[in-house]
Amino acid sequence: MCGIVGYVGPRPALPILVEGLRRLEYRGYDSSGVALVNGERTVAITKSAGRINVLEQLLDYEHATATCGIGHTRWATHGAPTDINAHPHTDQTGRIAVIHNGIIENYRALKTYLAQQGVEFQSQTDTEVLAQLIGLRYHGNLERAVREALLEVDGTYGLAVVCSEEPGVLVAARKGSPLIIGVGKNENILASDAAAIIAHTTQVVYLADGEIARITADGFKTTTMDAAPVTKELEEIEWTLDQIELGGHDHFMSKEIFEQPAALEMCMRGRIDPHTGSVHLGGLTDCARELTRAKRIILTGCGTAWHAALVGEYLFEELARIPTETEYASEFRYRNPIIEDGTVVIAISQSGETADTYAALCEAQDRGALALGVVNSVGSTIARQTDAGVYLHVGPEIGVASTKAFSGQVTVLAMMAAFLGRRKHLSQPGASQFLEALSVIPRQVEQCLATADQCRAVAERYHERLNWLYLGRGFNYPVALEGALKLKEISYIHAEGLPAAEMKHGPIALIEEGMPVVCIATNCAQYDKIISNIEEVRSRGGHVIAIATEGNRGIHEVAEQVIHVPDTLDPLQPLLTVVPLQLIAYHAAVLRGCNVDKPRNLAKSVTVE
Ligand code: M6R
Repeated sequence: MCGIVGYVGPRPALPILVEGLRRLEYRGYDSSGVALVNGERTVAITKSAGRINVLEQLLDYEHATATCGIGHTRWATHGAPTDINAHPHTDQTGRIAVIHNGIIENYRALKTYLAQQGVEFQSQTDTEVLAQLIGLRYHGNLERAVREALLEVDGTYGLAVVCSEEPGVLVAARKGSPLIIGVGKNENILASDAAAIIAHTTQVVYLADGEIARITADGFKTTTMDAAPVTKELEEIEWTLDQIELGGHDHFMSKEIFEQPAALEMCMRGRIDPHTGSVHLGGLTDCARELTRAKRIILTGCGTAWHAALVGEYLFEELARIPTETEYASEFRYRNPIIEDGTVVIAISQSGETADTYAALCEAQDRGALALGVVNSVGSTIARQTDAGVYLHVGPEIGVASTKAFSGQVTVLAMMAAFLGRRKHLSQPGASQFLEALSVIPRQVEQCLATADQCRAVAERYHERLNWLYLGRGFNYPVALEGALKLKEISYIHAEGLPAAEMKHGPIALIEEGMPVVCIATNCAQYDKIISNIEEVRSRGGHVIAIATEGNRGIHEVAEQVIHVPDTLDPLQPLLTVVPLQLIAYHAAVLRGCNVDKPRNLAKSVTVE
């Protein structure tokens, strides 16, 4: 979604802003722009609809000597993605420029008020309303003007503001939309995402909700909305630059699929001991007793994270014997959820910034639940809001299609289930067997990745078919959902995931000659039932692509194509069966000429409800 970058220091700001915007591209956007404070009476704005390449053609690097500026990638909410609606927006004097992530909910009322004051608007955006309001409140002190304006605003914002009369000053404010200050030597970089900072510094400060920062080349000062000073701790970003670069791959999605063995190693490092059957999750130490007393667990998240939650539901019930439910985060907060004593809510999110998941988490906390997080992005909004939690540690995920984060989420949930299981009913040998199987998963994922050519062959044969089905049972039912989501989000093919046995209750009517039906048919208690489901598909002309365990009885007789994955315990199969589905989706999207890492209409982190 929208991205913010700001720079103040000794260097020309423009190249730094544009490079930062490029690093934020993965979040999804439809227009971009920059504002430079160059000692003129007004700030210099350049902005345009479309990709950053379009913006770059309008920029005059040679004459852009300003050392302070802001840049933005916009994902349209209020007003179409046009040049005029792109950020930055200015007040009507042109002195003040604003970039903004989030939504100003009372912008209509503010717009009416500003119009009565004689303000004429250029765009349809809520952000321009904010810029005009700050302009109206400006009497020589930008920080004060921003504070006064924000006191009149309802909604969410991460914003950066510059003013031609205060060159060398950036003012930033946060409520519900992340902002990070990268602290360099005689320079500071503001961004909504660490990806725009790490080329310059790994020392950062995370702004909290309700905080305003005045940033100059020499330092920064943070205050609350009431102007009370806030002392911030410097923190270190763990990411490295090569983690957010392609490293020889054509796409981040492919890089991240192939990173999974290493990512899962990192995720488990120092956390499991198969010999003793024990799990060490530092983030849960302080709440371990409360967690052990949990009577009910609710897992919540969106999209891929919700699919991981579904696997988690099976894992918690199987290993810890605690009743567990999975809820869409977007539904949870609006349906008056019952939170009794002993309810633990676990919010799952790669980005840690998903608005629906954050809202569900806050709702759970308001109702008295112990709220835990399973998050990848260290220091993110959700990670900060939770009472405790476990980080994925799979490294940054840039591709919009979530891949290694899914594997990391399932791995963390498996470790949490074993952690709780040992405190409940799971025997030490039982835990040892489970953790032994978990510890070899990275190597087995490598074997799954070796099926890449077969997966490409499947994509070559079927990428022009516009309807696919994915079937799975038990632990593999969520994987069927995930496989279908991967295909549709990046290749724009319609795909549906189903519990295999549900097919005959309606969707079977869709099956026609040659329709690709991906069936997960690994060794498990219901294997024979899955074969029956496959027969039902075949007898109606469907083409079965089976994801099977080596040596599975009779699979070659019923399937058009068979892709083998190694054998593991049933609860861990999703970590293996998902890999060929990721690869099939990836190759289908490439063959269809789609923009794999930046699919249409989608954003990496969805920060609006
Ligand atoms: O950052 P989050 O894990 O909270 O994101 C949740 C979903 O928006 C995300 O998983 C989305 O479904 C992905 N595009 C799926 O590949």
